[in-house]
Amino acid sequence: MAPVKSLTATVHQRLADALTATLPEAHADPLLRRSDRADYQANGILALAKKAKANPRDLATQVVENVVSGDLIKDIEVSGPGFLNITLTDKAIIENLAARTTDPDARLGVPLAAHPGTTVIDYAQPNVAKEMHVGHLRSAVIGDAVAQLLEFTGENVIRRHHIGDWGTQFGMLIQYLDEHPHELDHKANNSDTEASGEEAMSNLDRLYKTARKLFDSDEEFKTRARLRVVDLQAGDPATLAIWQKFVDESKIYFFSVFEKLDMEIQDADIVGESGYNDMLDETCRLLEESGVAVRSEGALCVFFDDIKGPEGNPVPLIVRKSDGGYGYAATDLSAIRDRVFNLKANSLVYVVDARQSLHFKMVFETARKAGWLNDEDVKAYQLAFGTVLGKDGKPFKTREGETVRLVDLLDEAVDRATTVVKEKDTQAQLSDDEVAERGAQVGIGAVKYADLSTSANRDYKFDLDQMVSLNGDTSVYLQYAYARIQSILRKAGEVRPQAHPELELADAERALALHVDAFAETVADSATEYAPHKLAAYLYQLASLYTTFYDKCPVLKAETAQQVENRLFLCDVTAKTLHQGMALLGIRTPERL
Ligand code: ARG
Repeated sequence: MAPVKSLTATVHQRLADALTATLPEAHADPLLRRSDRADYQANGILALAKKAKANPRDLATQVVENVVSGDLIKDIEVSGPGFLNITLTDKAIIENLAARTTDPDARLGVPLAAHPGTTVIDYAQPNVAKEMHVGHLRSAVIGDAVAQLLEFTGENVIRRHHIGDWGTQFGMLIQYLDEHPHELDHKANNSDTEASGEEAMSNLDRLYKTARKLFDSDEEFKTRARLRVVDLQAGDPATLAIWQKFVDESKIYFFSVFEKLDMEIQDADIVGESGYNDMLDETCRLLEESGVAVRSEGALCVFFDDIKGPEGNPVPLIVRKSDGGYGYAATDLSAIRDRVFNLKANSLVYVVDARQSLHFKMVFETARKAGWLNDEDVKAYQLAFGTVLGKDGKPFKTREGETVRLVDLLDEAVDRATTVVKEKDTQAQLSDDEVAERGAQVGIGAVKYADLSTSANRDYKFDLDQMVSLNGDTSVYLQYAYARIQSILRKAGEVRPQAHPELELADAERALALHVDAFAETVADSATEYAPHKLAAYLYQLASLYTTFYDKCPVLKAETAQQVENRLFLCDVTAKTLHQGMALLGIRTPERL
């Protein structure tokens, strides 16, 4: 079965048809909105009347005559200066919701793109031999949600984790490890991924610090380290083998963090900076031959008309340094060529900190000048995210002024959430394992939701008290709404959810049902605009409308058996929508809390 068309889309279509029937040349948007007075209000006739120099109320009356109501529209009337108030039949509402839930292929009404494109999304890109911090959290959480949203709408999505695995700093590390070969050894029999992830990071951290100390104090070591960089860049096999150890060790750590984040990352999608080494020469040659890049003081640079420094002097993008070395920009330009020409992408999305916006502006502009990108069929977009702030409103730091380790932060969130889960479980129905599992699902969900519920470009405060609060716009609130519905469905026992289109709906039922109806449009908008916060806001409203419904409309104690079944059906469709929506955001919805 194909996805079910939403009620809103059908009403919109009927109004648009009626507008065309009334004024064939008009092509006007009926501007349909949800409304408190009726189910919908259409405001589009006012502008149309102005254009056609007609009386808006008269025009509205004509449009009403041309609307095909059928079983769908119960009432349509002209109001105010020329608005239309539209009320649907109860039957159409329940039948539509039933159609989208009975068949799994109906996908809760979310259609698959008829002509999907290919999007490469660059996200979750930590750096080798370094700790992950809150910036890496944002990229991972936002990127994962956007990738899932796009995939759910049928887009062909290719994930790329552009990890920082190359650069001169590796000379020092490799040289040190070569001279102290056991520094990265793990204790025997350590099979727990989390423990080995932590151990890997502490090994890397210790090695980094001691190597750094030696580098700063021992001139001879410094010289050996510098020669190592040359070997590395020349592809010396022994040097590369040691470099690989750092990458592998770091991956053990990354994967342990991704696991903690309840996020699936595939090794094959990790294509770090080093993955483009073979393309760097050619990238420079192409840019130089086409005149996009020019030599300046020995370096290969791209200049831009609109990018100037504080004194009005031009700020170039340096593609190759005067010593012949390649940097971050050359790699990103090569990655664009790979993604466009080999992976055949139509859209490139980069989920990266807003502080790198100038870099991406210059890189994208260079690629456009070179003809690798354009504004029609091969677009690039930086989904730039803001800074995570502490409670004091300043960039999030430890009391000692250091960047906060992501793992510490996640552990604290899980601890807090576990306390909340325990407190809520007043009759001690959950086993210790269940408490731990729910604690992780609630804590990680809280962190993800706080990040996803504000639009990505804004800064937000990392406030765990607020994040795990049961009241307000939090994932815990949504998870509880879901768990509460499941508990009602369990209590109903033999009585199963069943749609009864013949019943009259209460206001709270209509409001809930019509919001469920908007799921498909919300998913589509969130995906095309790369805006998971729109889905988050939708889900919060869904949970709020459910709460009102639950307060106003007894479910198991409703008046008739049909009404009990129909309300259980509304509970069920709400739960399915919550579950699917949360899953797209990467957040679990436990059956019991
Ligand atoms: N590794 C970088 C960092 O930690 C982010 C990489 C972003 N992606 C890219 N294609 N440059 O800041």
